[in-house]
Amino acid sequence: HSVGIIGAPFSKGQPRDGVQLGPDVIREAGLVKKLEGQGCVVKDYGNLIFEDVSNDEPIGRTKQPRVVGLANKQVADAVQRVKNDGHTCVMLGGDHSLAIGSIHGHAAYRPELSVVWVDAHADINTPLTSPTGNIHGQPMSYLIRELCTKIPVLPNFSWIKPCIAAQDVVYIGLRDVDPEEHHILKHLGIKTFCMTEVDSLGIAKVMEQMCDHIFSKIKKPIHLSYDIDALDPSVAPATGTPVIGGLTYREGIYITEYVCQTGLLSAVDVVEVNPKQAKREEEARFTANVAVDLVLGCFGRVREGSHAADYKIP
Ligand code: ARG
Ligand code: MN
Ligand code: MN
Ligand code: MN
Repeated sequence: HSVGIIGAPFSKGQPRDGVQLGPDVIREAGLVKKLEGQGCVVKDYGNLIFEDVSNDEPIGRTKQPRVVGLANKQVADAVQRVKNDGHTCVMLGGDHSLAIGSIHGHAAYRPELSVVWVDAHADINTPLTSPTGNIHGQPMSYLIRELCTKIPVLPNFSWIKPCIAAQDVVYIGLRDVDPEEHHILKHLGIKTFCMTEVDSLGIAKVMEQMCDHIFSKIKKPIHLSYDIDALDPSVAPATGTPVIGGLTYREGIYITEYVCQTGLLSAVDVVEVNPKQAKREEEARFTANVAVDLVLGCFGRVREGSHAADYKIP
């Protein structure tokens, strides 16, 4: 695997300080060395540098639209560049508003994508349905073609063109969906595997059915957008909007192993790791280690172990 890493130290899609430290704590947990240790060729593009925007007044309820729009344009350009360089892209967030730029930039390189969204939340509020005004709860609404008539004009958002069809999106891990979001998901017929389906089917059947759905017509490259809060707070406590009753470590890792096995993984986001939300330092380190393990699973790590093809017993 050839992997290109982008750090996106950005927090303004939500109100809690600390999520901008995600890229650095995930790197400090040994991401690059561990990827290389399993045979990946890694290019770390470093962290993006985001400009501040003064007087970023809310538009309606939507908070800090100008700075979020601007940052996402930078992410989109960076992801497109990593894809043009021939790598599978890993975008380390930062909050989940960054998926706007990551998916948009990916789609600029590969217009036909499927999106696997692993999250406790659907993040599909429009600016008009959002109960909080936080853009990290809205990214999918800007990207789905079928919702384009529902999106009001926002400053610095005019470059965003909806690029994903509702039928090419699958959710896994949902357990905190706003009523308006639930309506949108049902109305558009989006495939969801909420925690109830994880419980009833088991994660293996969920992944099988997920692939049956996204590969029912043609096999499109996969954009995996992984919110660390999909995992149970006992596994990933250092995050801004934890929700009880989430994926186990094993289920979380199984998702990455399965997506890797499809051979179609083209870009990954790992978002919402917030070390400042940890009650103690070890919770922050633990969450960062789990984030690293998710990325390793995306790039060939298997729990049975592995060895080089030319290995000989000494
Ligand atoms: N649904 C809520 C909202 O719209 C929470 C979203 C949480 N999103 C996240 N990326 N953690 O604000
Ligand atoms: Mn979430
Ligand atoms: Mn369901
Ligand atoms: Mn999310």
